[in-house]
Amino acid sequence: MAKKILIISASPRKSGNSDLLCDQFTLGAWESGHNVEKIFLRSEKIKYCIGCGNCIETGKCVQKDSMNEILTKMVDADVLVFATPVYFYAMNGQLKTFIDRTVPRYREFKGKIYFIATCADPEQSAVEGTVSDFRGFLACATGLEEAGMIFGLGVWNVGDVVNNPAMLQAYQAGKNS
Ligand SMILES: Cc1cc2nc3c(=O)[nH]c(=O)nc-3n(C[C@H](O)[C@H](O)[C@H](O)COP(=O)(O)O)c2cc1C
Repeated sequence: MAKKILIISASPRKSGNSDLLCDQFTLGAWESGHNVEKIFLRSEKIKYCIGCGNCIETGKCVQKDSMNEILTKMVDADVLVFATPVYFYAMNGQLKTFIDRTVPRYREFKGKIYFIATCADPEQSAVEGTVSDFRGFLACATGLEEAGMIFGLGVWNVGDVVNNPAMLQAYQAGKNS
């Protein structure tokens, strides 16, 4: 059955390494007949969570920006994909800011979630902090099932990931999603 897949791409670099892995995931998912939408966070207006707590009562954020619409798409999705570059051995600020703004509706998320991260460091240990950040989100969004992680290691410049094994892994994850 065709699934609704929503990809959140957090790199500020268009066609950057993590973004290219998102596109490989999309290719695989299309081949399996799924519907895919990618949201490029750089193109959206997303303010910081102000911690006011109003959303706990109302289910809506008091701030007017892109988030209410994106949250509706996340609740509707069968599969989520989060993709980030590693910045200072953590997820980047764009993805963290976005995750903080899921408070109004994260309890409604369901289905599978995949995680994509890229970094210049070639060691697998370089993504540990970033994975831990991601799992902190999953510890709260308990309706989501961690379905797979794809790491593009040893990639610095835009496009370095093209010859990396992560390309095939992302494609296959999309195909099996
Ligand atoms: C602000 C900043 C911080 C970074 N910190 C790290 C780091 O801690 N470890 C690392 O291996 N690479 C680090 N990098 C390199 C990026 O993770 C790498 O270039 C990645 O492939 C970028 O992904 P993108 O092309 O999707 O933006 C950093 C890059 C920037 C711009």
